Amino acid sequence: MPADLSPIDKAKFVAAKRAAKMVESGMRVGLGTGSTAAWLVRCLGEMVREEGLKITGVPTSSRTAALARDVGIEVISLDEARWLDLTIDGADEFDEKLNLIKGGGGALLMEKIVATASDQMVVIADGSKEVETLGAFPLPVEVIPFGWQTTRLLIEETLIGLDVLGRTTALRMNGEAPYVTDEGNHILDLHLNRIGNARQLSLVLNQIPGVVENGLFIDICDAVVIGHGDGRVEMRNLATGETTSESYDFVEDGNAFSDMTD
Ligand code: 5RP
Repeated sequence: MPADLSPIDKAKFVAAKRAAKMVESGMRVGLGTGSTAAWLVRCLGEMVREEGLKITGVPTSSRTAALARDVGIEVISLDEARWLDLTIDGADEFDEKLNLIKGGGGALLMEKIVATASDQMVVIADGSKEVETLGAFPLPVEVIPFGWQTTRLLIEETLIGLDVLGRTTALRMNGEAPYVTDEGNHILDLHLNRIGNARQLSLVLNQIPGVVENGLFIDICDAVVIGHGDGRVEMRNLATGETTSESYDFVEDGNAFSDMTD
């Protein structure tokens, strides 16, 4: 692990490193998607290879599945696992109640199914993801390709009656072609700027024909691990209200860090 990571990557890495300590042998673990979750998967792989950690992982995307197999984690499907002990995933935004916007990496559907099928969901994030009110990050909505333009119009019409500040929508692209999710769907990014009532918006969006799922995760996340570029990590547990912190020190010894507190 190079010590010359950018501050943002250090922040993501220390959050992932700390969250990996919550994983115990025998657990079925949901593995999130995105750059922060990729650090987690690498950390868990190292624990499997070097410390004898025995886990099965349920990935939330084909990208994460490939990485998990690469680093030595046994991968099973959610249908095989049925229920998970813990899911650890990144987020695009989280608020004080640990409600989230997810889907920046296009995996919101599998991420929501996996997180909901878990006893615990823990978000790992750098400090920039914390917001007072959700909505500055465009809200991803997964829609089926059939009639997606009609679905988009219905969404835009629905937004008129809702407590949001912006109402433009954009089809997510992958170069010249629409982005296609692992489930074969498209993503509409809703530029809302500020979401006044995230619970209501989530319910209303999911009632529109053609919408498969939206990126609002309401009452799903149990705890957040927030990393900072200087090695500090803060953990907040929603149920207990407890906040704890520790610190990692990056050293130039070929391995990235030493834990200063344990
Ligand atoms: C993927 C996600 C990611 O968790 C989210 O986009 C955060 O990504 P990153 O860790 O790269 O900032 O929801 O669908």
